Amino acid sequence: MKTEIIKIDPFDPEKDKMAYCGAVIRYGGLVAFPTETVYGLGANAFNERAVGNIFEAKGRPGDNPLIVHVSDYGMADQAGQFVNARQENLFYALGAEFWPGPLTMIIKKRDRIPGRVTCGLDTVGIRMPSHPVARELIISAGVPIAAPSANLSGRPSPTRASHVIEDMKGRVDVIIDGGDSSVGVESTVVDLCGAEPVVLRPGFVTKEDIARVAGQCGEYDWMSAGDVVRPPSPGMKYRHYAPRASMILYEGLRDDIARTVAVRINEEKSRGKRVGVLATLEQICYYKEADIVLSLGRENDPAEHARKLFDLLREFDESGVDIILAVSTGTDGADDAVMNRMFRAAGGKIERV
Ligand code: TXA
Ligand code: MG
Repeated sequence: MKTEIIKIDPFDPEKDKMAYCGAVIRYGGLVAFPTETVYGLGANAFNERAVGNIFEAKGRPGDNPLIVHVSDYGMADQAGQFVNARQENLFYALGAEFWPGPLTMIIKKRDRIPGRVTCGLDTVGIRMPSHPVARELIISAGVPIAAPSANLSGRPSPTRASHVIEDMKGRVDVIIDGGDSSVGVESTVVDLCGAEPVVLRPGFVTKEDIARVAGQCGEYDWMSAGDVVRPPSPGMKYRHYAPRASMILYEGLRDDIARTVAVRINEEKSRGKRVGVLATLEQICYYKEADIVLSLGRENDPAEHARKLFDLLREFDESGVDIILAVSTGTDGADDAVMNRMFRAAGGKIERV
């Protein structure tokens, strides 16, 4: 397939280009587009065949449902419905606080959304993104857009157009180059179908943020649940965000980690392996023996960790390391989401020292 790459101004999207890309979506094509979280791979959410092509292009497992992106509440109403007034009030209260933005809310699906989008579930995840290009694309398509992250299944999510081109060129109709994603990790997924809201996937909007609006908020315990229970969010069960190198996540006191990782670096190198280390700016000085050391940014800046993580995982791959030793960031604010992604990239391999 020939893929058109179209550069669009992220702050002031050109109307003619947006009209063209919207038409490609409306008439059944696939368009990769920037959002504030990560790049998405979009199709007309009402078009079952187009949605099927998303799974094909990504190599995505058929049981991992897609998020439906909308530009206003009227469009949200075409995708989902409320089962009671409490759920409806919660939806609008959270929307008023966090939309447009990096929050996906799960409610009951409408029949109009094909089962292919939700993989047979009777619920649907709905998000109103804030990125001007994403918003204009949905408006000009005139239909809700079903979109997963625009990476090949299992690879780190794309936060730059170059990542999308690497994974998707030749597999989709259009790739919009609209600059870098500012948040860098995927949206918070919150389930509104139970007695209290439950965060299924942590993101930039934290469960504390949601509890402030909702009065309470539960959380799916992704770290201890692993693959044992049936994850409520099907996507949580796959090794995800994975660099090609194997990865180990280290948790514990800073000095203990520094010692343990230093020993591991030498062990791996003596076996002829190329070793990468991922740590915060304040800590990279401990790891000079590694072949490549990449910084997530300052320790007390979770937003920067989130913005950088996926790009750095791809950079490790380009550098050809065999193993990545990653130092825990802790779980304050957006770091909860960063830890979740690092944990999945490590395939659950975590060493507590
Ligand atoms: O920020 C984002 O959410 C990005 C951008 C493109 O919007 N999209 C994204 O999509 O990350 P994806 O497909 O990579 O992740 C969607 C997640 C998966 O973990 C999936 O299992 C979950 O949302 N999900 C979607 N619909 C669901 C549903 N009805 N019930 C439970 N989980 C659902
Ligand atoms: Mg994804």
